[in-house]
Amino acid sequence: TTRVPVVQELSRRGVTRLPERFIQLKSAHQDEAQNFTNLEILQMIDMIKVRAGSAEELAKLAKGAKEQGMFLIKEHGIGSAVLDEVKCVVQEFFGLSFEDKKMCVGSYASADNLGYGRNFVKSDDQILEWIDRLAVKALPKGATDGLHVWPQTPANFRRAMETYVDQARKVLDQVLESLAESFSLEKHVFLQSFDPGRSEVKVRVNCYPPCPRPDLTIGLNPHTDASALTLLVQLDGGTSGLQVLHGQDPQSWRTVEWPRGALLVNAGDLLEIMSDGRVKSPWHRVMTQSEVERISIALFYNPPSDAEIVPVTGGSGSYRKVVVGDYCRHYYKISPTKTKEAILYAKQES
Ligand code: SIN
Ligand code: FE2
Repeated sequence: TTRVPVVQELSRRGVTRLPERFIQLKSAHQDEAQNFTNLEILQMIDMIKVRAGSAEELAKLAKGAKEQGMFLIKEHGIGSAVLDEVKCVVQEFFGLSFEDKKMCVGSYASADNLGYGRNFVKSDDQILEWIDRLAVKALPKGATDGLHVWPQTPANFRRAMETYVDQARKVLDQVLESLAESFSLEKHVFLQSFDPGRSEVKVRVNCYPPCPRPDLTIGLNPHTDASALTLLVQLDGGTSGLQVLHGQDPQSWRTVEWPRGALLVNAGDLLEIMSDGRVKSPWHRVMTQSEVERISIALFYNPPSDAEIVPVTGGSGSYRKVVVGDYCRHYYKISPTKTKEAILYAKQES
């Protein structure tokens, strides 16, 4: 494929006319844009109460997972110094010049969707998203694939990220256990697919630079995540851009209101499969903004790629059992524009 423009560079140069490759088809974008409102109804889950087994909090968790597949968490136990440091290193990285970023990672590419580069560029006629990203594989520890893509600048990038990932994983394990309880299932039904030594965490830092024409572009196309769970951190609380499809209404895009300090948990396709549809993997997308550069950190938590996940119904419900790696390969094969169809792969034939 031909060379793809680096979005941050376009933005820094102050382009006023967008390269054609970033311009969305009108019908796919503008019609929908008429139809969004703010989403004030994401459940806010207090993890201290969840850990204490509060029935009321578990009910909120079940409701959030079932009705929206996305909820906010507070009192999560991730230290504020840990969060501040990880935000700081990603900000510092994206603050570097393009040449320095490229040099300290080793390349600007998107092999296996890891590294500093672009999301899923598969053909010359694909309409591009207004995003640069850095993706690393943080777990399992010692995984050699992806090792070469950790940035060397700032020097504490990897240590800060790994410390954050360790703490985040404990929170997500708690969420998985409590979700099972909240559905009156055995508390290990979801967690049992995970393995402390072999489960996978991929972190993707998303950078959406200021865009001269938010009306013509999109930051991230509508998609569901392939993961079991995704944990999202947004830098500069207050700016948003993330929208989620509310309920089943295909027109109802809602901007996520994201209180400062709260983290956002998003269920992915693997959890929808494991829970046999009790948890919904929500459609979401990211809009661009004209004034601010927005950075978010998405942490994707998956069972080991050779694990077979079996729906809680044992396969007698809507979903069949799948191997995690097979599902993810399928998902990546049809991304970024047709992820709507990805989960059909795991639907039971009727
Ligand atoms: C994502 O879907 O991974 C990105 C979400 C965001 O930037 O808020
Ligand atoms: Fe996502």
